[in-house]
Amino acid sequence: MVFIASIMNFRSDKLIIAIDGYSSCGKSTFAKAIARELSYLYIDSGAMYRAVTLFAIRNHFINGEKIKTGKLVGALDSINIDFKRNSNGKYETCLNGENIENEIREVKVSESVSNISTIKEVRLKLVHLQRNLAKNKGIVMDGRDIGTTVFPDADLKIFMTAEPEIRARRRFDELTAKGLHVEFREIMKNIEERDIKDSSRKISPLRKADDAIVLDNSYMTPEEQMVWFRELIKQLSG
Ligand code: DC
Repeated sequence: MVFIASIMNFRSDKLIIAIDGYSSCGKSTFAKAIARELSYLYIDSGAMYRAVTLFAIRNHFINGEKIKTGKLVGALDSINIDFKRNSNGKYETCLNGENIENEIREVKVSESVSNISTIKEVRLKLVHLQRNLAKNKGIVMDGRDIGTTVFPDADLKIFMTAEPEIRARRRFDELTAKGLHVEFREIMKNIEERDIKDSSRKISPLRKADDAIVLDNSYMTPEEQMVWFRELIKQLSG
């Protein structure tokens, strides 16, 4: 395939591709498509923060905006997160061996995940895990701090953005398609709150790495984004 050959010229060995950006701007759809095309591993780092949040909810460490941080930090060693391939070849998030892929997408998790992700010890644990997953390179990882903190030397960094209303509509459609009953206004509010919390937290806030390339996909289909990506790689391969 011509495309694969050109990206391999871009760097002779396998790449680490970091994709960061705002909530619900289609990072995972885009990152998965890239990983599929390159036969790379795809890792959704947000799913890891969601898994820790679900663990905290189940253990009653969260009460509204209040978090029993000491208790959660004390329990971090008992949290094991991994990704298992299902029968369709799709990777699903597991928490201590249990498949939690659907539960971590629920509103109750979305509401608390930004607060959980401000905890330094949680971030240290997950960044360590994320770096281990990339030992063999050949990985596409999406999140908020992948290009800035997790892999500051990533071979390629993309920063994704889209208008908030468009992102809320996408999240709403995704959740309702799964049969979940959600209010559009509630989703919009959650997205706006998470944008603020993710970009203003003290440790590893969401920000574009200086060497990241911006992709605003407000008015782009997933196919158009892949055309953009292939064009980008062609340019980078010179
Ligand atoms: O990508 P997502 O919406 O599933 O991520 C959920 C939350 O996790 C997001 O609000 C912020 C946090 N997160 C983070 O702090 N760092 C990452 N690398 C990925 C996600």
